[in-house]
Amino acid sequence: MTEILIVKCLSDNYAYIYSNKNGDAFVVDPSEAGPVIDVLNKHRLNLKFILNTHHHFDHVGGNFELKEKYKCKIVGSKKDFERIPGIDIQVSEGDIWSFDEHNAQIIEIPGHTTGHIAFYFESLKLVFTGDTLFSLGCGRLFEGSPEMMWKSLTKLRDLPDETKIYCGHEYTLSNGNFISSIYPSDEIESKIDRLKSLDKQNMPSIPSTIGDEKRLNIFLKADDEDLINSLGLTGKSPEEVFGHIRNLKDSF
Ligand SMILES: [Fe+2]
Repeated sequence: MTEILIVKCLSDNYAYIYSNKNGDAFVVDPSEAGPVIDVLNKHRLNLKFILNTHHHFDHVGGNFELKEKYKCKIVGSKKDFERIPGIDIQVSEGDIWSFDEHNAQIIEIPGHTTGHIAFYFESLKLVFTGDTLFSLGCGRLFEGSPEMMWKSLTKLRDLPDETKIYCGHEYTLSNGNFISSIYPSDEIESKIDRLKSLDKQNMPSIPSTIGDEKRLNIFLKADDEDLINSLGLTGKSPEEVFGHIRNLKDSF
């Protein structure tokens, strides 16, 4: 079984570490170096690569310190070569970045930022989605339009249902409360109960899966007739419905 080490950083960020049997590792979105170094030391791992999903400080803040300490290489979007600190390897839509026998497909998913990418490892059945797709939510539209973000989310939605989602923040409970407020269901209420229990134990709700998100995450359901009708948006396009839901969430 694939083990991803979840590293809590800052107040609600996650970095993720994957390692091979030789102890070589990569980390995704190290917002700060300290907690990542602690986990690498604990597991006796040697950091070879940093993967950045986008340029925001709470995803790249640890880049320089880790690069200096481990002499690792930094992978990020070609579109953000001027905004990702210390970038060495620039990648674009459809590129493959490999770690041993595992290939990551680069999926460009603009909206939260224009240069945002996901790393999809089909062989590991997982995707790193940064601040584009959260469990039960999605990122704010800082640099893109609703049309852009909806297209990006549908690209992720097309991945196999069993794909595990490792996202940038622990926002799941508050996202669940938002869904409950505008599109209540028995399933979201029981999910919220499980999330409250995890929260009490200070346990992460991550990973989710594409299949679970397709059922519950309303940001992936902007083309769902039942949701559209219940929001009083009959006849609106998925992009308009998505934009409406995103606006509601921004002021939730
Ligand atoms: Fe971000």
